Amino acid sequence: MAPSEQKALPVPAHIGIIMDGNGRWAKKRGLPRTAGHKAGAETFRRIATYCGEIGVKYLTVYAFSTENWKRSEEEVSGIMRLLDRYLDEALQDLDKKKVRACFYGDLSRLSPELRKKCLEIQERSKDYELQVNFCFNYGGRMEIVQAAQRFAQEVQSGKRAPEELTEALFENYLYSAGVPDPELIIRPSGEQRTSNFLLWQSAYSEYVFMNVLWPDFSPADLDAAIAEYHRRNRRFGGV
Ligand code: FPP
Repeated sequence: MAPSEQKALPVPAHIGIIMDGNGRWAKKRGLPRTAGHKAGAETFRRIATYCGEIGVKYLTVYAFSTENWKRSEEEVSGIMRLLDRYLDEALQDLDKKKVRACFYGDLSRLSPELRKKCLEIQERSKDYELQVNFCFNYGGRMEIVQAAQRFAQEVQSGKRAPEELTEALFENYLYSAGVPDPELIIRPSGEQRTSNFLLWQSAYSEYVFMNVLWPDFSPADLDAAIAEYHRRNRRFGGV
């Protein structure tokens, strides 16, 4: 598809990205894994800016899964530092960048300082247009279980009745309440798994798997994924 042709096609309102391949990118260069995450965080900045330029409304990135705690202390604290640095920058540039930051995940396991910054930026950026959802200490199954628990508590307290539960109501208990489902989910690095990312929300998403490692992922790769999305014929179970 010629670039001019692609520009005319609507951009998906919501794109999800599994930022994978940082470790392999670093290994190929003989660098520590944390250097891969640092490069990955730079790529995130570039791609988030580009998403804003082309009119994406919601960008959801998988930054740290509930399983990632199994990694070495050094790697985990490296990722926490990168998030911390990003939050400092974002808080400083809030009115320039105009990005709304949200967090999907259980922040209770983060340090109190980091958690406080996450909540502060979430609150202070809530009127901005491009919404970036950071999945941090996130697992799709855990999100669904926690939503079910919250609904059950409301039933127990008499606020709700079990038969009231519909798919539409259930969505209000998820981290993504009020956010449309992603039309497109991109996983770079050649892996072809969903890895517990947005399990509920991806029921009808188009998955595009790409062979590039996340730190090397460029705006041109995003364009290519969007072009692939447009070639798909989305039927939502119809004919
Ligand atoms: C997956 O690659 C990536 C992660 C587990 C961490 C992603 C984190 C960042 C990009 C930085 C977060 C900070 C901000 C500001 C968004 P991997 O380590 O599993 O790579 P591999 O499969 O090649 O080992």
